Amino acid sequence: MKTYLVTGGAGFIGSNFILYMLKKYRDINIINLDKLTYAGNLENLKSVESDKRYTFVQGDICDKELVTNLFKKYEIDYVVHFAAESHVDRSIKNPEIFAKTNVLGTVNLLNCAKNAWETADGWKAGVKFHHVSTDEVYGSLGETGYFLETTPLDPHSPYSASKTGSDLMVKAYFDTYKMPVNITRCSNNYGPYQFPEKLIPLLINNCLNHKDLPVYGSGMNIRDWLYVEDHCKAIDMVINNGRLGQVYNIGGHNERTNITIVKTVINYINENVDKEVTDNLIKYVADRKGHDLRYGIDPTKIKNELGWYPETTFEIGIVKTIKWYLGNKEWMKNVTSGDYQKYYEKMYD
Ligand code: NAD
Ligand code: DAU
Repeated sequence: MKTYLVTGGAGFIGSNFILYMLKKYRDINIINLDKLTYAGNLENLKSVESDKRYTFVQGDICDKELVTNLFKKYEIDYVVHFAAESHVDRSIKNPEIFAKTNVLGTVNLLNCAKNAWETADGWKAGVKFHHVSTDEVYGSLGETGYFLETTPLDPHSPYSASKTGSDLMVKAYFDTYKMPVNITRCSNNYGPYQFPEKLIPLLINNCLNHKDLPVYGSGMNIRDWLYVEDHCKAIDMVINNGRLGQVYNIGGHNERTNITIVKTVINYINENVDKEVTDNLIKYVADRKGHDLRYGIDPTKIKNELGWYPETTFEIGIVKTIKWYLGNKEWMKNVTSGDYQKYYEKMYD
């Protein structure tokens, strides 16, 4: 019976991961440590809240006493570290919290895990710290080429710089102490339960409410889209079979320009839901500061070593995603109440 400490499990990817793992394995325990910032939402985990294998703890990954006590209370085998401030636009407006949560929070988790797991002659058997990083640590690609695990790190935004800081601290714990770690760097995720500040759920929500669809700059920036369940599957594979100390890129040649994404969402909603949703809603707005042009992952390493590949094509994943939001309007209404409106107005005024 393995016990996972999942941080940030009430967020988008973390909650998908918890649901995926509890469905896949009967004999695991999951402790979900989440501060419940604006991005954390326990509604995502309603279906497992009374599952005996699942425990929720509200708290901050920067809290040394709390995290130390979790390691004392539970026999934790794996830390799966998702908790972070994750939105690039917010990092441009307010970088400090990104440095605090993403860098210092990660160091606190690493320290607490080290204190609990280090033995006189090495490390407790079978433990691992899995750090969920991002392809943004590599910076931006031009029109050709892909990110490899060996691509030099060159982050641009305060968000990606803070993720690079945490990524390098995890590497340092492996290089210095031989702490058992893995790092995964994935591309843009999409799917159920994503907060509508990110491009795809924002587009869906705005289409359904006949609001403008803000396109930054030319709309020609490119992202490499990864269906969230494929990402969860990859993380599970790396935890089980990844070589210690290794970095694995996760993504899979699903590159699209932003304007293509916008038109795909409009077309689906126009044809299947609401004829009034048309290209007229598109509004070109000022570009994001330091906007990375293109991300594109080369997933050869994880494919060759672990047999992972993204099973969900973008064409299938986007329809599944839009249908999920159509079937969960109440979820969308709840997460866009309160401060969301204020945030949104400040973003585009
Ligand atoms: P998210 O913003 O949806 O969720 C983040 C979660 O972390 C929230 O539940 C929030 O409450 C929690 N959290 C924030 N600060 C905390 C703190 N101090 N202590 C405890 N919990 C805290 O993020 P996401 O999109 O699910 O991303 C998860 C991870 O994956 C992040 O580390 C992010 O950098 C990384 N990542 C995301 C993507 C993507 O496309 N979303 C791609 C690559 C990497
Ligand atoms: O690549 C992985 C990263 O993907 C993760 O590390 C981040 O946590 C995650 O937020 C995401 O970052 P992006 O900045 O790529 O995602 P976002 O959804 O914010 O934007 C996607 C693209 O769409 C980007 O080029 C900016 C553009 N955009 C975004 C928004 C919100 C718009 O044109 N209009 C918008 O309203």
